[in-house]
Amino acid sequence: MAERKEKFYITTPIYYTNGLPHIGHTYTTVVADVLRRYKKMRGYEVVMTTGTDEHGVNVERAAKKADIPESEFVARMADAWRSLWDELGLTADEFVRTTDLSHVRTVQWLFKLCKENGYVYKGHYTGQYCIYDNAYVNDAKPGDPCPDCGRPTETVTEENYFFKLSAFQKPLLDFYQKFPNFIQPETRKNEIVSFVEGGLKDLSITRTTIRWGIPVPGEEPHVFYVWFDALTAYLSAVGGPEFEKRGMWPADVHLVGKDIIRFHTVYWPAFLMAAMLPLPKQVWAHGWFLMDAAKMSKSKGNVVLPRPIANMLGMDALRYFLLRDVVFGQDGNFSYDALVTRYNSDLANGLGNLASRTAAMLEKNFAGKIPKPGPRLPQDDTLAKEAQNAIGEVLERYDKFEFARALETVWSVIAAADKYLTTEQPWALGTSPDEESRKAAILWTTAELLRIVTVLAHPVLPDSTTKVWHLLGQSTLLGATQLDGLRWGQLTPGLTLGKFQALFPRVEKTEAIERIESMANEELNPTPAAAPTPAPAASTSAAGAAAVPVTAPAEKIGIDDFSKVEMRVGQIKTAERIVGADKLLKLTVDIGSEIRQICAGIAQFYEPESLIGRKVAVVVNLAPRKLRGVESNGMIVAASVGPEGRPVLAGFHEDVEVGARLK
Ligand code: MSP
Repeated sequence: MAERKEKFYITTPIYYTNGLPHIGHTYTTVVADVLRRYKKMRGYEVVMTTGTDEHGVNVERAAKKADIPESEFVARMADAWRSLWDELGLTADEFVRTTDLSHVRTVQWLFKLCKENGYVYKGHYTGQYCIYDNAYVNDAKPGDPCPDCGRPTETVTEENYFFKLSAFQKPLLDFYQKFPNFIQPETRKNEIVSFVEGGLKDLSITRTTIRWGIPVPGEEPHVFYVWFDALTAYLSAVGGPEFEKRGMWPADVHLVGKDIIRFHTVYWPAFLMAAMLPLPKQVWAHGWFLMDAAKMSKSKGNVVLPRPIANMLGMDALRYFLLRDVVFGQDGNFSYDALVTRYNSDLANGLGNLASRTAAMLEKNFAGKIPKPGPRLPQDDTLAKEAQNAIGEVLERYDKFEFARALETVWSVIAAADKYLTTEQPWALGTSPDEESRKAAILWTTAELLRIVTVLAHPVLPDSTTKVWHLLGQSTLLGATQLDGLRWGQLTPGLTLGKFQALFPRVEKTEAIERIESMANEELNPTPAAAPTPAPAASTSAAGAAAVPVTAPAEKIGIDDFSKVEMRVGQIKTAERIVGADKLLKLTVDIGSEIRQICAGIAQFYEPESLIGRKVAVVVNLAPRKLRGVESNGMIVAASVGPEGRPVLAGFHEDVEVGARLK
């Protein structure tokens, strides 16, 4: 029987459902996804979990405001979180919702174990509580603000079940000492150790003032207090009471933001010690992404959303930026300017350019095949050595969660290859046998370097490296490539290159930022006119309009209503694709009185060049709007054909004058 691989269990926090994901949440999930891919490439059986934290007062209030039951509110929010992660390619192996029955049972089971072992008692508690952060604020007086969010705390007195946290001061300190890597980074560890040394108060773990929570069996109206409930999700995700069967618990790393490290390194191990269950191996706390030097929050109105960035520059670009620009563990400032600068310099000019140059030279000189290298020169060996050394260095850095440094090393190899090409100048060599052989050596060396870089960067750039992998004629699954077997010299001559697919088209900074911001604005303040993904409607429609499935005959309108729509004959002057919007074409259209810019959702069905000069029907008095961040001033009319709604542009069989009105 095959031996079971060593396991690695990674968690992200479970996210509150009273908001939608911003770049801060995306950061934790991206890191988890990078680790998941990396550990797989190191031969582990990996499980990564995420989920939603769905109980508490905030949800009660939000559901009331939305005038729907809590269960429906959280179901919608959980769906929104899950589908955004899917859309961004961050699909976890398990998605826990704290309203899942399996989770409810796990929480009740954990409580029973703690109680049976004598670590739970009933008492009364009065304290200042921050309902936004779901935490009592120790030592706060009535009226004091919450130190985390600055909002006023509320005085709460109630009958609670208490957890004897005070009994765990010494066991916790011993544990931190015995497992010095449990809390990462080191600075956070010192912070936690001094907090625990300062003495631990018992902790209220149930509430009677909240209705929307997991009931304490036989003790209604007690429901579990959010952290006892939430932290247990890590266990419910991998089997709950039957965790041994699944074999994944304990977690190898809990990834968290610095704001919730105390819950993870003090409460959580104490709960598990009380229940006599295995403890997680590590808690890694990252810093915050700040916007204008403040933590992002919806209430401050300074959130950065992931989707517009992914739409404009690709998800790989966002992943790269998040990991490259900030030292993992420290705070970092988010700026669109820095994001686009990195995109152009490291991705478009760096990896993208090396891949396209290499492919073009192989195409031209070796009919699109990997050549057999001729005799090597010392400079080839130097480059080979650099790439080979990088392998060990990059793995070491990934292992230490030094993502920025790992990428720095990979990019130093790319820079070395650029320099090598500039010095060796394969394009200047002629066609004599010696020169051909030298060319083969140079291009094989460059392609081999590209292969190494592709494998090393894969955990961070899964989509684009997969394209390069196929470009290099590789037929295996890149994500299944084992990093431990990666060596210089494994590129087989004779392989035929795959199709070149654009990786990172260069973008103009101001325009890119404007479009990202405009898409974010559309997402934060949706208007009916600003349809996110234009799709042609059933029956006759305007290409560029939002899909409105026609299920019943439309209501009859009078001629007055019809005459409100001003349609004119337009002639397409220019047409181009839009970076980051696969379905849209940007057109300029002469409508007689002026030239208009109009976006049309026809890119998958019409080649831009085929449209130049074509006469089309244009709705000219439609309010301007932005589609994928690009201004659109009018609409081109098209029929929608077949089940996939293929747009067919409405046109004219006789010659018509540009600007003529359609009536
Ligand atoms: N529900 C709790 C966690 C329970 S885990 C058992 C929670 N949820 S949260 O949605 O508020 O935050 C989840 C994570 O997102 C935290 O790790 C937090 O640090 C992180 N971030 C939220 N904003 C952030 C930034 N601006 N930057 C980086 N991460 C931050 O806490």
